[in-house]
Amino acid sequence: MNEDVLSAGTIAGGLGTRLIGQQVLYYPSVASTMDIAREEALRRATEGTVVIAGEQTGGRGRLQRAWLTPKGNIALSVVLYPSLSAVPSLIMLASLAVVGSIRNVTGLDPRIKWPNDVLLNGRKTCGILVEGDVRSDTVNHAIIGIGVNVNLRPDDFPEIQATATSLSHEAGRPVSPLAVVKSLLAEMDRLYLDLNRGASLYEEWRDRLVTLGQKVRVTARNLTFDGIAESVGKDGSLTVRRTDGSAVTVVAGDVTLHG
Ligand code: BTN
Repeated sequence: MNEDVLSAGTIAGGLGTRLIGQQVLYYPSVASTMDIAREEALRRATEGTVVIAGEQTGGRGRLQRAWLTPKGNIALSVVLYPSLSAVPSLIMLASLAVVGSIRNVTGLDPRIKWPNDVLLNGRKTCGILVEGDVRSDTVNHAIIGIGVNVNLRPDDFPEIQATATSLSHEAGRPVSPLAVVKSLLAEMDRLYLDLNRGASLYEEWRDRLVTLGQKVRVTARNLTFDGIAESVGKDGSLTVRRTDGSAVTVVAGDVTLHG
């Protein structure tokens, strides 16, 4: 077994987590790990099951966007059965876990752009997608999907070149996807156990946000407006003070920073 190659064995070996990554399903190439994780959740796979791919051919992002995962990067989805009250914290958990793993492995210091893009030097190095089957009073399952640009060369992808970066691009050296995955799963495990014990991830997430106090353009539900990002709520929502003085709170949407 090549020690530095992504596989179910290298990921799960010596991981030391209690829940996340106790079962790892590795696929060399898939359309999207989200679809496989959903099938696993529907057949009630063990909580914390990780579906990870060497590459994705039909990766998807928020707001119906495509997500590129060529080889050498990370695309994974984690199956969870959280309580209803934990659901709003899952995007905080995922972004904080990614921040922790990037710091652990590279020493770089990422920031979070609301709600859950992880940035290095103002460019996106990770995207997070949370999908689930959540009813008014029950959660059947939630899937956290995480894509990290580890060794992606932005110059090779003109469609994202202006806004994307990667760990190797910022660190100036190749970075081991295996090291990042192991650290990421350990961080997720720790934060998920904290959450289940009633801890709040809100303050740590809020303090990592690059968005607050900035001029922003918000696109939410076909509505676009400008303002200053004023605050975030414990439910993950963002409140923006518009130029006419009114405040608007959005729970889902896209934000562009205008410095
Ligand atoms: C975004 O920034 O829009 C979210 C991107 C989420 C990408 C990840 S990669 C693993 C998982 N599989 C997918 O198809 N999407 C998520």
